Amino acid sequence: MHKQLDLFNDVSAVYGRTGKLSNSQLYEMVARHAGIPLEEIEARVPIGQTGQKHSLLKREVRWHQQTLKHLGLIERVEGERGLWKLTDAGEKKLRRALPEVALLAFSTDLGLAIWGSCNRVFPHLDTPIALCVTSPPYPLRKPRAYGNPTAAEYADFICRALEPVVANLAPGGSIVINVSNDIFEQGLPSRSTYLERMVIAIEDRLGLALMDRVPWSNPSKAPGPIQWASKVRCQLNMGWEPVYWFTNDPARVKADNRRVLQPHTERHRRLLAAGGEQREASFADGAYRVRKGSYGKPTAGRIPRNVITMGHSCPDHRQYRRDAAMLGLPAHGAPLPKAMYDFWIDFLTEPGDLCADIFGGRVTLGKSAEERGRRWIVTEWIIEYVRAAAERFKASPGFWLNPAIASC
Ligand SMILES: C[S@@+](CC[C@H](N)C(=O)[O-])C[C@H]1O[C@@H](n2cnc3c(N)ncnc32)[C@H](O)[C@@H]1O
Repeated sequence: MHKQLDLFNDVSAVYGRTGKLSNSQLYEMVARHAGIPLEEIEARVPIGQTGQKHSLLKREVRWHQQTLKHLGLIERVEGERGLWKLTDAGEKKLRRALPEVALLAFSTDLGLAIWGSCNRVFPHLDTPIALCVTSPPYPLRKPRAYGNPTAAEYADFICRALEPVVANLAPGGSIVINVSNDIFEQGLPSRSTYLERMVIAIEDRLGLALMDRVPWSNPSKAPGPIQWASKVRCQLNMGWEPVYWFTNDPARVKADNRRVLQPHTERHRRLLAAGGEQREASFADGAYRVRKGSYGKPTAGRIPRNVITMGHSCPDHRQYRRDAAMLGLPAHGAPLPKAMYDFWIDFLTEPGDLCADIFGGRVTLGKSAEERGRRWIVTEWIIEYVRAAAERFKASPGFWLNPAIASC
């Protein structure tokens, strides 16, 4: 990672933690944060034609300070010469990676979790991705703490974020996106058609083909939309979310349902034991026929149906919340269950393949990929989420936590 980017992060972090600061305090705290000996910050070398001596590191710190100023994140303290402090916007924003920041937050032998925007990181990737499973911010009317695009800008937002992933997608690779069906038109019980526009934009602009739209039926979904289902009573409670599966090459798609077979049902086991069907029958005007002995041949398992039923809560996530609380960090609040990642990774990749999540949240893709022997790369732009997620990987071979974020 480029040293300049690290130092930018150190300067941002120091302002993020402290009230007003003079420049000499800033140099000292940045040195401590970056683990640079103070003498190194103080070291002066001749610069320019006059050969006057200056500290290059201090100059770099001031340069990053000016960048923060231009981004509207810090300002001069009125009436106090030489002191700078966070602006109100900075107070809220500094914990989110600034557009030019990309910092390796933690890694294992198999994967990388990067604090930074996916738009900053993925255009620089030059290695084939077998699968990207991601759950982008939904176009919620009441935005979450991490920021959400609107329904009107959604197709464009998704295409821009996915473009570099598509550029790196291995032939027959897949992109799986979980989004919300429950986005309503302003003041009305009717739903937005932003998903239809998103699917068409992904086909038209990114050249991907739609393999399936899989409903994720979530029995533990909170009731809602309260206004329309519980108060006005003109809608039903929501119970599912769509998961879209795209590939760049449907003829060569790298998918194998034999990797995700489920146990046979009790009824099927009874049929097998009885040597298959004992009757002759015809259904749906002859479209389906049952003959004596049908379903009597033992098979390795049941091919899953294209409806995924699972709650969103899982033991792994409960542990994540305990870890976040222990570190005094806010927990990311919109997770996908790990079993969802497990399913798509098993179905669409093989050990050693590279899996990605561009909107990483709790880095659950990394956790699932790690357990299944796949390589992984995840970006998440809220530092608190990445830091808390790191705890989940402590026992993974080769685990390394960037000291710069260890105590964020
Ligand atoms: C719906 S959550 C994803 C949750 C994730 N699937 C999980 O199970 O933990 C979306 C996440 O994307 C992050 N995010 C939004 N825009 C981003 C960007 N441009 N680059 C990286 N992360 C981003 C948000 O901070 C948020 O944590």
